[in-house]
Amino acid sequence: MDDTDREALDAIRASRHLMVLTGAGVSRESGVPTFRGKDGLWNRYDPMELANIEALRRDPLTVWKWYNWRRSLIHKAEPNPGHYAIADLEAHKAPGFLLVTQNVDGLHRRAGSRSLVEVHGDIFREICTRCGTSREAYDVYPEDLLPPRCDACNGLMKPGVVMFGEPLPREAMERTVAFMEIADLLLLVGTSAVVYPIASIPFEIKGRGGMIIEVNPDETPVSPIADVVIRGPAGGVLPALVGDLARDG
Ligand code: OAD
Repeated sequence: MDDTDREALDAIRASRHLMVLTGAGVSRESGVPTFRGKDGLWNRYDPMELANIEALRRDPLTVWKWYNWRRSLIHKAEPNPGHYAIADLEAHKAPGFLLVTQNVDGLHRRAGSRSLVEVHGDIFREICTRCGTSREAYDVYPEDLLPPRCDACNGLMKPGVVMFGEPLPREAMERTVAFMEIADLLLLVGTSAVVYPIASIPFEIKGRGGMIIEVNPDETPVSPIADVVIRGPAGGVLPALVGDLARDG
């Protein structure tokens, strides 16, 4: 174990209220593409044409084809050692623990995380834009059934994710903010930390005197204020870290 790992371990052990904040990078090793950076989806697609509530209204078929394609990728994906390590970390630290994820792939849930807030929603849910009825749809649609319609009112269904132009779900934000206000340590994993309001969390926690550990192969806007930076993939770094936590008591 090097000095950086030791510092991270000591901080995790000492923390009373640990928030873990994850982004697309944690699912990269499960085969789910990230949005930014090398091979990122936003290099090939325009977020304003796809992950956008106005675009859904204007061109529901194009938007649904894209979410349906992402569902097909996620459908095939399995949680990786990074997801499992975070679930183990919860077992060590709960109840002083909350995982906040921007991911909509459900892989944290499938790895066993329970103290979990999915702030950007769940790609396998659907909500009617007319009557608000919601349902779970674990399948990928045949293209001729797109865009899906509501069983109750035949309104246009929307993927159960937060799109640009929409507020974050109120209950999820309230839980996140309440824990953020007491968090003394933030473990930031696999997020470029540029999408607000979630991107403000590291600065809020730091401003209240909390510590930050960042796990990411690349630099982010949070790196300069992080107390410990571990440059590497989540699926390699986290199992080693959480394994050491279990071994050393
Ligand atoms: P991004 O794609 O913006 O960032 C992914 C981050 O993961 C980058 O900082 C990478 O360096 C890092 N990364 C890549 N591989 C990794 C690995 N194996 N282990 C750890 N880190 C790795 O994804 P998010 O920050 O999640 O929102 O993006 C935030 C939001 O922007 C998403 O929820 C989505 C997107 O637009 C909406 O669609 C509303």
